[in-house]
Amino acid sequence: KILILDFGSQVTQLIARRVRDAGVFSEVYPYDVSDEFVRNYGAAGVILSGSHNSTLEGDSPRAPQAVFELGVPVLGICYGMQTMAAQLGGKVENGHVREFGYAEVRAHNHTALLNGINDFVTSEGHGMLKVWMSHGDKVLDMPPGFKLMASTPSCPIAGMGDDERHFYGVQWHPEVTHTVQGKAMLGRFVHEICGCKSDWNMPDYISEAVEKIRAQVGTDEVILGLSGGVDSSVAAALIHRAIGDQLTCVFVDHGLLRLDEGKMVMDMFAKNLGVKVIRVDAVDQFMGKLAGVTDPEAKRKIIGAEFVEVFNAESSKLTNAKWLAQGTIYPDVIESAGKGKKGQTIKSHHNVGGLPEDMKLQLLEPLRELFKDEVRKLGVALGLPHDMVYRHPFPGPGLGVRILGEVKKEYADLLRRADAIFIEELRNTPYVATVVPGFDQDSVPTNWYEATSQAFAVFLPVKSVGVMGDGRTYDYVVALRAVQTQDFMTAHWAHLPHELLGKVSNRIINEVRGLNRVVYDISGKPPATIEWE
Ligand code: XMP
Repeated sequence: KILILDFGSQVTQLIARRVRDAGVFSEVYPYDVSDEFVRNYGAAGVILSGSHNSTLEGDSPRAPQAVFELGVPVLGICYGMQTMAAQLGGKVENGHVREFGYAEVRAHNHTALLNGINDFVTSEGHGMLKVWMSHGDKVLDMPPGFKLMASTPSCPIAGMGDDERHFYGVQWHPEVTHTVQGKAMLGRFVHEICGCKSDWNMPDYISEAVEKIRAQVGTDEVILGLSGGVDSSVAAALIHRAIGDQLTCVFVDHGLLRLDEGKMVMDMFAKNLGVKVIRVDAVDQFMGKLAGVTDPEAKRKIIGAEFVEVFNAESSKLTNAKWLAQGTIYPDVIESAGKGKKGQTIKSHHNVGGLPEDMKLQLLEPLRELFKDEVRKLGVALGLPHDMVYRHPFPGPGLGVRILGEVKKEYADLLRRADAIFIEELRNTPYVATVVPGFDQDSVPTNWYEATSQAFAVFLPVKSVGVMGDGRTYDYVVALRAVQTQDFMTAHWAHLPHELLGKVSNRIINEVRGLNRVVYDISGKPPATIEWE
């Protein structure tokens, strides 16, 4: 396995992703782990990430010195290369020109890491790499023992390597897809230089995870809050594979789910997979609590608190349960470690925060090591339907934040049907992708559902006048929202084809009595958010 030490770059997780894509298990830890941790970790190789820091600042972060004494290969990326240079006796200087974005780097065939890897060869016979750079500082002098591996006119030492000790540094980012040979280079590092085998794959992962869960829980019983979302669903399928009937899932129907969602969850888990699922019908309870409440934050709080209440009431009936399973995934783990929150905190968005102390349940989190894509692959490998596993994210408070103002059952029913029509048409409309050379082709979308990151309808509790047949109507409005985003922090509104929008609008107005107007949201985030509340 590969140990990645994080110096705070925004793309550190991508390094782990790429290494895992190469079939090798890797984990991210903060740069300030102890020498002892590094010695005991058992890494076949270490990668030092980039950072927004400068090694020239007095108290800037350094890798634990043990990294360079382990006798295993080390790859420094960007800041990682600079700190490697500084710690091994080289020199770093403040670059006068900041390089940011696309760059062409001349590769020197002096080291095992880059030898023979390039994108094109110049007329002078130099191998060139198309890479993505982002740095201010640069290495001025290489440490003793290193050879020049790559250069650009403004960054003469853009790569350096020592084949004796297997230490390498690159100024560019091989982990981002814009670096065309990034995959080849990281693949060479982990396979040939570190000697790791490609043994990180889903079938093997499933058998290992199953063994681990069995060893962990023994004959104890486990409960899990099933929401119908990807993470809790995959966790349920995996744990069920491991311990069968020792697992009981609790599925709370709060009346704010999508069309047929409750039925879908019950069919998939209870019927098809034979999982024990307790379905709690709490629609009236939630609607009662939400009656008359219009403030978005107050609504969220009520839904969250009520959920915990219902879940706890059901769970406390399962008196033998010793474990609470959760679909925590690796980005959640990294995120909470990064915030210095050591230990296992239950994330509020998993909706089971605030379990009573006296339940004394231990946490079982079988997806803690996995990235979202890996969770999806695992779900498919466990037999969950592809469409379910690749669904858009759905917020914990559900339709509660998509019905503006006061939530009523009548509104939720109208919204569910409009939303289902929109999603169905997105799935049915082909998307012709522009294929960009050098980018990951694994996930090229084939329809508009796949081409958008999140899409849904929003209920607007205002009435407008319309005409249908010979009659006048005075009905509610729905807004359609579809966005494209990488990280959900910023988002563009999706430029859906007009024919698609037209068809969705016609179908909603014709099929859903009670709605007579459809509008499309063309606001980006920022300044708008993705959800309307
Ligand atoms: P916003 O509206 O903040 O949404 O741009 C960003 C992403 O977060 C989701 N979201 C939530 N997810 N509980 C959740 O589990 C919530 O309360 C919540 N609010 C927003 C939203 O759907 C989008 O994907």
